[in-house]
Amino acid sequence: MITDSVHGANLVDVVYGEVPAPGDPAEDFVEATKIRRDAMSWDAPGVRMLQTTPEMHPIIARAGQRHVSRARTELPAPMKVETSVADALDRRCSADGFADEELTLTELATLLRLAWEPRPGTGPASGTQPRRATPSAGALFPLELWVVVRRVEALEPGLFHVEMPDAGNASLTRISEVDHAALARAALQENMIENAAVTIVVSMMPWRSRFKYGHRAVRFALMEAGHLCQTLLLTASAMDLAARPLGGFCDDEVNGTLGFCGVDEVPLYLVPVGRGQ
Ligand SMILES: Cc1cc2nc3c(=O)[nH]c(=O)nc-3n(C[C@H](O)[C@H](O)[C@H](O)COP(=O)(O)O)c2cc1C
Repeated sequence: MITDSVHGANLVDVVYGEVPAPGDPAEDFVEATKIRRDAMSWDAPGVRMLQTTPEMHPIIARAGQRHVSRARTELPAPMKVETSVADALDRRCSADGFADEELTLTELATLLRLAWEPRPGTGPASGTQPRRATPSAGALFPLELWVVVRRVEALEPGLFHVEMPDAGNASLTRISEVDHAALARAALQENMIENAAVTIVVSMMPWRSRFKYGHRAVRFALMEAGHLCQTLLLTASAMDLAARPLGGFCDDEVNGTLGFCGVDEVPLYLVPVGRGQ
């Protein structure tokens, strides 16, 4: 019988038939990422460093990779989305499939810019950290956004990096071709990736916030990926587009297909988006 006095570990025993051994990586992760009052200055040395080093502020304002030598496609202005928040929330669901249709560049730009573009007056051009619809611990933005294009008007298929350092400065840079079939296999959802017009990839670069928050930064980055993904999903819902968040994929296969190192650039979410069936 399960009573109030049953310890969580015993509950694990009841459900799964085993108790995690000492050194269980999942439990170690929780332990290692705790904040303890008496160890804060050791665990998060960057907090104090940032307070006392104003020279670092312009550096952290420039969060986000730049691929300046690559071909760039400017993203057009977003279209007006009139759907109410209540309706976008009400309609949101994970797509079970996609129509084999292309997206317009304006639709893709709207989705990406509403979710990720810094607000006017924020970002390095304004001398401040970016502020976006998606929150970030310390506004350090340890995430990157990528788009694997399959069918978008005026874009050659392939991997694109999303660059939005400042308001009104939004572009895609083409990185490489992508083996779509390999990505679909890696995602363990072949029909999703194969038919979606695009797959948005949310990746994390842990050191961008780890220098400040220590191990806790990894917890923060995972939470932030959830925020960003939900912002994308609700925006897609408001635009009447279909989308599905995929978090269960073969990491090394995704890394190999997209050219990520898997340690400093860690894929967290694949989000296929397109028109619904
Ligand atoms: C963190 C996370 C990971 C997910 N990973 C997958 C996945 O790997 N494959 C998949 O088909 N759906 C995935 N989903 C979608 C869920 O299965 C879906 O949200 C759930 O069934 C509820 O359905 P709904 O989104 O339509 O409300 C994931 C959702 C979340 C939040």
